[in-house]
Amino acid sequence: MQVHTGPAESGLAELSRAIEERRSDRRPFGAAPVPASTIARLVAGVTRYGATLHPVIDPGARRRLDEVLADAGARQRFVPGYAAELTIWSHRWTAARDGVPAAARTVHATHPDLRAFPRGALAAARPPHDGSILLVLTTVGDEVLDHLLAGEAASAVLLTATDQGLATTPLSQSQEVPATRARLASSVLHSPDHPQLVIRVGHPGPDPGRIGRTPRRTLDAVLLH
Ligand SMILES: Cc1cc2nc3c(=O)[nH]c(=O)nc-3n(C[C@H](O)[C@H](O)[C@H](O)COP(=O)(O)O)c2cc1C
Repeated sequence: MQVHTGPAESGLAELSRAIEERRSDRRPFGAAPVPASTIARLVAGVTRYGATLHPVIDPGARRRLDEVLADAGARQRFVPGYAAELTIWSHRWTAARDGVPAAARTVHATHPDLRAFPRGALAAARPPHDGSILLVLTTVGDEVLDHLLAGEAASAVLLTATDQGLATTPLSQSQEVPATRARLASSVLHSPDHPQLVIRVGHPGPDPGRIGRTPRRTLDAVLLH
């Protein structure tokens, strides 16, 4: 895949408006459900990348997905080096251009579906009900190009949701553990396709305060010529 000059693909320029606004929000979300029309829009937005977005709406499927996410988290606790890696990524030096700073992490874990990070600095009140929906992004293949297209599709979901005033959290633990990745496909999605990312979408919660902007590596560090 190559970067080429020319007009931006239709719709992408509009989505780029949301780039500055978008943050990974690990706080509890509001109680109101995400409108069906918005979910339909998110689902339609990934087809141009050959990907599929599965909204997990059925209560049984959601319960199984919650179990898969909890299982992935529990298994990772025993993966050698996992805890050390998480600590390194959450305790970067001040001038670091990557990592997940305390200003992007909550003071305590807010939901069992979410990755358990070391204590952060964001306030996180627990609302009576978190109305978030989980969407699972899948691809037919599982090669490098499929991963690249899944990344583009994930970006479209995150930016479209942000543009609609919604909050989002990418969740990849269930894909990082082979056993839970397989269980996600077979027992939650009933699909032969490959799960690439779970995306939590909902209305921003009641917590005050802006999530800190995470640092970025330089363009030269990430773009191969
Ligand atoms: C493919 C992918 C997987 C991610 N998985 C997780 C995850 O499992 N848990 C989590 O809290 N954040 C996850 N994130 C969010 C990243 O930590 C976040 O994008 C990064 O720290 C930059 O912060 P920002 O999204 O607020 O700009 C993931 C992001 C991507 C792109």
